[in-house]
Amino acid sequence: MDRVKIAFFDTKPYDQEYFQRITGNYPADVKYFPMRLGPDSAALAAGYDGVCIFVNDSVDAQTADILYRGGTKLIALRCAGYNNIDLKAVYEKIHVVRVPAYSPHAVAEYAVSLLLTLNRKTHKAYSRIRDGNFSLNGLVGFDLYGKTAGIIGTGKIGQVAAEILRGFGMDVLASDPYPNGEWAQKNGVTYTGRDELFRSADVVSLHCPLTPENYHMVNGTVLDSMKPGAVIINTGRGALIDTKALIEAIKKNKIGGAGLDVYEEEDEYFFEDHSGEVIQDDVLARLMTFPNVLITSHQAFLTREALGAIAETTMNNIRDFFEKNELPHEVCYRCAQDSCVREKTGKCF
Ligand code: NAI
Repeated sequence: MDRVKIAFFDTKPYDQEYFQRITGNYPADVKYFPMRLGPDSAALAAGYDGVCIFVNDSVDAQTADILYRGGTKLIALRCAGYNNIDLKAVYEKIHVVRVPAYSPHAVAEYAVSLLLTLNRKTHKAYSRIRDGNFSLNGLVGFDLYGKTAGIIGTGKIGQVAAEILRGFGMDVLASDPYPNGEWAQKNGVTYTGRDELFRSADVVSLHCPLTPENYHMVNGTVLDSMKPGAVIINTGRGALIDTKALIEAIKKNKIGGAGLDVYEEEDEYFFEDHSGEVIQDDVLARLMTFPNVLITSHQAFLTREALGAIAETTMNNIRDFFEKNELPHEVCYRCAQDSCVREKTGKCF
């Protein structure tokens, strides 16, 4: 096979480190472009066989068209989610592959770490102690033991999160259009309807993909239905939550805390240093003012194990396609309509 040329977009030093360890083993020439992929940068990919992108690169219809005309045959996502791709626009033109699982533990453990930090306020204690303030006032949390957690989406990550929370002695409710009864029984997890889950849980953690149906799944009505003081954790995708409704619920003291690793407009700010600038996003700025909101910059995936697995699966995806015309981790427009049925049924349609 001839060597293929792959244009990487939006890579950071930690990405490059893990890719550079293995790219020499593959018949591919890699060029790292620091900017994000979008309509303004897509022309850079002209003449490359494929592009490799991450969560905040965008393949909208215009970008898809520029890529297609430039000869791109494969879009290799370095992530699991694919909501940033207009799959209809690339359908039957450019194949899309992703890394369906790199370390569900990385993300699930991080979701739980957000919960623990938010609940026990270790982030505040850390700052206080550094400032010589040894007071405990305002640091009261609650025992997780005996409380009820609700897991939305019991795929790879949601299952691990549920198992960890069971380890704390929590009752775990789950909601998923494709329930896994055997797993639930083995781990003492109870499937229930989504409305019931939101009504009953002390802690809700979101682990489903962002699809058109799941957009703003957590809206004002849902937040109103939740237990007073409930905590919500989102490591899924920002637009699963209507952020303005969340702000209102926090202002009313309805929601006890929010741990957010993702934010619906995150592509403006996340992953970059904006510390010298005035933040123009008033919704994000308001969120950042709450003492019971913990925001991180989409870092749930960021472990050594996950970065290594992302690099390996991505390069295997690229090799499998160009060498063998195989697409074991393809996302296509039709299967994505149903949250990637192929992964559940073994076939696309
Ligand atoms: P997965 O595909 O294994 O599981 C997702 C589950 O959500 C599936 O079982 C699906 O049936 C379920 N689901 C879909 N719509 C639902 C709904 N309306 N209600 C309840 N369940 C629903 O995916 P995985 O690997 O567990 O990842 C979950 C999500 O986590 C990804 O789609 C991605 O958006 C996000 N993610 C975030 C990362 C981060 O660094 N913050 C890293 C990796 C993934």
